[in-house]
Amino acid sequence: MAKKTEKRTILVTSALPYANAPLHLGHILEHTQTDIWVRFQRLTGNECTYVCADDAHGTPIMLKADELGIDPEKLINQIYENHINTFSAYNIAHDNYHTTHSEENRMLSERVFEALNKKGLIEVKVIEQLFDTSKGMFLSDRYVKGRCPKCSAEDQYGDNCEICSSTYEATDLIDPISVISETPPVVKESEHLFFKLSSLKKDIDSWLKESKVQQPVQNKLSEWLKDGLKDWDISRDSPYFGFNIPGYKDKYFYVWLDAPIGYLASHLNYLSKQDSKKFEELWSPDSKQEIYHFIGKDIMYFHALFFPAMLSSADLKTPSGIFTHGFLTLDGEKMSKSRGNFISADDFVSVLDPEYLRYYLASKLGTGVDDIDLNLEDLRQKVNSDLVNKFVNIASRSAKFITKDFNNKLSAKIDNIELLNEFIETSEMIAMCYENLELNKAMKEIMALADKANRYIDRMEPWTLIKDDKNKDLVHQICSTSINLFRILTIMLQPVTPNLAEKSFDYLNDRPTWKDIHKPLLNHNVYNFDPLLTRVEDSHITQLLELKNV
Ligand code: 2FM
Ligand code: ZN
Repeated sequence: MAKKTEKRTILVTSALPYANAPLHLGHILEHTQTDIWVRFQRLTGNECTYVCADDAHGTPIMLKADELGIDPEKLINQIYENHINTFSAYNIAHDNYHTTHSEENRMLSERVFEALNKKGLIEVKVIEQLFDTSKGMFLSDRYVKGRCPKCSAEDQYGDNCEICSSTYEATDLIDPISVISETPPVVKESEHLFFKLSSLKKDIDSWLKESKVQQPVQNKLSEWLKDGLKDWDISRDSPYFGFNIPGYKDKYFYVWLDAPIGYLASHLNYLSKQDSKKFEELWSPDSKQEIYHFIGKDIMYFHALFFPAMLSSADLKTPSGIFTHGFLTLDGEKMSKSRGNFISADDFVSVLDPEYLRYYLASKLGTGVDDIDLNLEDLRQKVNSDLVNKFVNIASRSAKFITKDFNNKLSAKIDNIELLNEFIETSEMIAMCYENLELNKAMKEIMALADKANRYIDRMEPWTLIKDDKNKDLVHQICSTSINLFRILTIMLQPVTPNLAEKSFDYLNDRPTWKDIHKPLLNHNVYNFDPLLTRVEDSHITQLLELKNV
């Protein structure tokens, strides 16, 4: 019997994609991992809200709009439409997809800032920065290049040297050049606002102890914490595309301040369509709502150090956990447009059913933070062998008898109750794998069950038995057992391949949830069986490889 557990209220986010370019497959990896977890939570009866947004502020977006000769607002609106369409093509079930350039986000960013200010956690300091006189703007580290102050290597960015790995201030670069105007910048002073993170070490330490964070990430964060935290510069000077800091003329919130607050803003925007009063309750520090952020390993620092510190100082609920994944590589290499090793999310989906990619990614995603490789030939083999030859085959081998010989009605009795029970019992372990994000293990277990179902059919040979009329009842029970095994596997795969599951449930004339794994379909009418899935062909892979080099 399934244990009766209390329904959880969960809020889940994926990192907010920047609003300056279409999505790449790395975004799809993260949103797929999140979406699978969200769908699993919903399938098991929890209330799970999934919000995201475009990350619309910052210098790169401002410069990109400039380059295109349009307002940043126009750029972010165009990209927003594109992102929404791409996510929908991949069947990502966001409850709300908002933008950080929104009134909700402005209000919440100001609220957090004012709370920090009231607690004496904001300090104004004068800093020296490189300034591009021809563009009239301060240059952040990535917009300035020069010789490394330690090893003199040429062409190094303003924060660290790729040759000798030393870190330094941009003002220490030898012969710096602005990447934007290619003119030498000058050193100029400016007042900046700092969030006094250094005084919040204890809060961050205790957040880290209480929350769900994978071990390697914990280790990295503890290392950073041990080294001590520097106060964090949260302001940027004009020109900047972002929110004005109240009380400070021509100063803007640094994009990394308002971006994570964008999670709350998207949630507020979602709730305001129903009952916005719930927002304060759900975000109060003692709220029962669980909050999980799915992120890539490059942005751990912001999510696990700055963000919890900001939230707790503003008397808002801190994350219950952070799930971090590695980067996606393509055919063994880093994805890179300039090196011709890149497929955009839109291009990929123009060739291949996204469910194939979802399944492939699930079969590779575990709890580690190592990079995940998308190998197109491996994808073809895995999808054909697992989804087509193992999973769908169970139904196609049995359904034809149910239709032809039994008028589309399943039997009143199961032939192999032990096997059915084994599937039911294994579902608890598979549920744990989903919960703990061991998706690779879940897929392996599901396919091991699919193997067992196929071996059972091989052994029973219903195609031979049916030749003798006296075996008719037995064939009916065998095929009905197989269809029930197929149904359980479909429920188990539903978070990963929701479209395939929906088509299978249409055939089964059933809309089960996870707990229905325990209740087989007996004496039940199904529909005629239509092929559920086609194979990935060599030609698909050739097409994708061609797109790689465009
Ligand atoms: O790294 C990125 O792509 C950022 N746009 C992620 C922001 S996540 C959150 F903090 F807003
Ligand atoms: Zn160097």
